[in-house]
Amino acid sequence: MSTLIIGAAGAVGTRLVRALASRGDKVVVADRLPKVPAFLAQQAVAAYGNIDVRDASGIMKLFKDNPGVTTVWNLAAPLSVDTAMDPAVAEAVTVGGMKNVLDGMSETGVRRICFTDSIGSFGATAPRTQCTARWLTENPTQDPGSDYGRQKKGCRELMNEFASRGGDPRFAVLPGVLHSKAVWGGGTTEYALDAMQAAARGDDYECPIDPSVVLPMIYVTDLMRGLLSLQDAPEAQLSEPERGYCIPGLSFNAEQLFKEIRRHKPDFKTSVNLNETMNKFAHLWPDVLSTKEPEADLGYAPHVGLREMVGHVMMAQEEFLARSRVVFRMVDDDGNGTLSKKEMNMFLHDLLHVPEDISSTLMPESTPAAHKNMLCRELTEKAFQDIGVKKAGEISYPEFHNWTKRSTLCTFVQDFIKEKGADIDFMNDD
Ligand SMILES: NC(=O)c1ccc[n+]([C@@H]2O[C@H](COP(=O)([O-])OP(=O)(O)OC[C@H]3O[C@@H](n4cnc5c(N)ncnc54)[C@H](O)[C@@H]3O)[C@@H](O)[C@H]2O)c1
Repeated sequence: MSTLIIGAAGAVGTRLVRALASRGDKVVVADRLPKVPAFLAQQAVAAYGNIDVRDASGIMKLFKDNPGVTTVWNLAAPLSVDTAMDPAVAEAVTVGGMKNVLDGMSETGVRRICFTDSIGSFGATAPRTQCTARWLTENPTQDPGSDYGRQKKGCRELMNEFASRGGDPRFAVLPGVLHSKAVWGGGTTEYALDAMQAAARGDDYECPIDPSVVLPMIYVTDLMRGLLSLQDAPEAQLSEPERGYCIPGLSFNAEQLFKEIRRHKPDFKTSVNLNETMNKFAHLWPDVLSTKEPEADLGYAPHVGLREMVGHVMMAQEEFLARSRVVFRMVDDDGNGTLSKKEMNMFLHDLLHVPEDISSTLMPESTPAAHKNMLCRELTEKAFQDIGVKKAGEISYPEFHNWTKRSTLCTFVQDFIKEKGADIDFMNDD
């Protein structure tokens, strides 16, 4: 028995994979990314890159290849701002993708699907406080005021139809998710993450929403407890209509957030530069989610407040910055503030020679030196390409830092070695 997570490489998916794997569950991960990141694949019993929910036959094959799957999380969807930028693509992924996933489940007899709905489903007529998922099911004609909300509704309708055929769909209405990762999708509540990242870097921050608007958010550790409690609950325990539950966390406005950030960074400067789309959504969405229903049926209540959340995120952002600065200085042999191909080559060469018992980034010790040199040159070219170096032959610190948000030299080398595994074995045979 295993859980399939589609859209596993995103902000919610990576934490969900870890939460499930760390309690001993078997997890199958799939994502549209050409390659599932190594750290994620390591936690899974099977990992599939290049899986696009829009590809019906690819999704069907995924289900047929994994007959042990009993529960599915479909997380593959663009966030609110990305949806507003390209509603047609978002519709194909969110609603079209959900249809393909449910078809794959029907065909292979998988009953339980868990879906991440959003506060973006609530329009201007929704209650501002104590908002429930039940309100969505009882007000099916309300206008959420965005394609994002309308597409989530489309998914709920498909799941209802799936329930009528004997399926076991459940949905969680998520507030803005706050976490300690270095990258995130284009959403509205992500403003809070942008602000904390700017503060950690010592940058000023332009707030894209009215700073007095309160929005519901959740720190990812609370979110994981909430999502697992929804996945685990026996069917008979789920008394809310359509098995929908808000997963509440904390609520704050930007002014309160900035005040808390200044406890860590007293010089943090902010101004307001409204983003029309984000500000519209911020005003549409409720302030506070109800805690009653998830507590009664799922035994879930949030723990993390503003002070703790800001502390966690600021610490993670500062650690991340410090790490990337140290690695940059280590590679920058002549200390001139940029990385040349020669310096990268030297550094990667050292990395590739670390003894096997110390690091798995290693090539077998027996790989002939000439081949190591050749692979090192190829790796250096690949690293320069992947980092997207603008000025020929030199990597600047901002370029390097941006790249380290999605990769590290160690994982880059690891992936390269895996990719070249067959060649290296072949060379050894030589
Ligand atoms: N992050 C939030 O604040 C938030 C709030 C409410 C609801 N949600 C919902 O939770 C879900 C996950 O959000 P997230 O923050 O992890 O998003 P994310 O953008 O961080 O991750 C989404 C993942 O889905 C993958 N993906 C995108 N299109 C795909 C496709 N066509 N086929 C397969 N995979 C695809 C991406 O590669 C990415 O790894 C979404 O449905 C989102 O609407 C998120």
